[in-house]
Amino acid sequence: MVADRTNADRSPQLRSGSVQVLVIGGGGREHALAAALTRDPAVNEVHAAPGNPGIASVAVTHAVDPVDGKAVAGLALRLGVDLVVVGPEAPLVAGVADAVREVGIACFGPSGQAAAIEGSKAFAKDVMLTAGIPTADARVCESRSDVTAALQAFGSPYVVKNDGLSAGKGVVVTTDRAAAEAHAAACGRVVIEEFLDGPEVSLFALTDGRTVLPLQPAQDFKRLLNGDEGPNTGGMGAYAPLPWLTEGFSDQVCERVLRPAVAEMARRGTPFVGLLYAGLALTAGGVKVVEFNARFGDPETQPLLELLETPLAGLLYAAATGRLDETGPLKWRSAHSVAVVMAAPGYPTTPHRGAVITGVEEASALDGVRVYHAGTTLGPAGLTVSGGRVLTVTGTADSLADARRTAYAGVDCVSFEGSQVRGDIAATAAE
Ligand code: AMP
Ligand code: GLY
Repeated sequence: MVADRTNADRSPQLRSGSVQVLVIGGGGREHALAAALTRDPAVNEVHAAPGNPGIASVAVTHAVDPVDGKAVAGLALRLGVDLVVVGPEAPLVAGVADAVREVGIACFGPSGQAAAIEGSKAFAKDVMLTAGIPTADARVCESRSDVTAALQAFGSPYVVKNDGLSAGKGVVVTTDRAAAEAHAAACGRVVIEEFLDGPEVSLFALTDGRTVLPLQPAQDFKRLLNGDEGPNTGGMGAYAPLPWLTEGFSDQVCERVLRPAVAEMARRGTPFVGLLYAGLALTAGGVKVVEFNARFGDPETQPLLELLETPLAGLLYAAATGRLDETGPLKWRSAHSVAVVMAAPGYPTTPHRGAVITGVEEASALDGVRVYHAGTTLGPAGLTVSGGRVLTVTGTADSLADARRTAYAGVDCVSFEGSQVRGDIAATAAE
């Protein structure tokens, strides 16, 4: 096996060049994960399934269905990998991490049961209620009369959430009562909750089911258009660190939110192993949880991994094997990173595919710029658009203002017809 202990610091050391990792997924987050894994000196080879054209430049890609646990476990066995990292929520909720662990391979990612913290809004609310974690008051609604009563009780702005996974499109926040009712009717089982007012922060923590190791806080821009207008999306940009946060913020959230959630999942007999993502609102009444996700956020992961200096494979392996307590504090570059998403025309409702993408190489050649692929495909016409969020362009520099300029210089190099890009990612914070 690949883990040795050094007596000096007892941290789980992976032998240089010994580790093979398989990354499941094919988005910008997985491209960033695969790239960061290849930068880890312990890593010998990175594989990905299904990957994408960007991931194929740093990993060996395999055409395997990422939600098919049996197929993923079979691939992991065939390749003889030491670690599988499951990126997206759909395979996690489908139990892909369980299937991998069943064949005896370490897996970074929660079991299907633990992933319900993202897969069911009602389940997540129940965990928060039991563990005393601050969140919006909410009601689970199964019928039209439940919906009417809940909308009446909480008032406008209305927050209506589909109970199940919805690829970032299950939540409607609106002052339009008819639109709130229509969304509830279209979903079936919904959670209707109190509107939380205040800036949002994403705090991610690595956990092995007991030890909780938070990353730096990041901020995500969820709305499609400048000035936080337009519909909710999977995320149109992100940046880290957040210079405006008070000192001790992460410790406080760790104490009040992340540790209680991890402890409650363990108490229920479904320990959470992997990345616990807390989406937080900084309200006048204190920090409250907007949502939990069971995986790295996209696009927050892209700037965070630009800044993380601690080798990634060692961290994920320690979390996957119950040894996170042996890892020292995380090391971060003292720099700033900004990620800007380039989305397809029609995103988020009906992305139009097929436009030819140019300029990715020019952008990547700029100092401090990295371009991560998500909805791209390589064909006879070259690189073309194949999904809603197409590329994430990150810019990393010593100051937030320079990181923004760097990211947007990268964006300016890239073009495809009808691209949608927010121009104000991290703008307020940089001023
Ligand atoms: P979720 O999938 O629960 O994170 O919701 C997606 C987005 O909807 C969040 O990032 C918020 O911007 C918004 N949202 C969700 N719940 C609330 C809430 N209770 N109050 C205000 N905005 C919310
Ligand atoms: N950036 C939001 C998410 O990954 O859900």
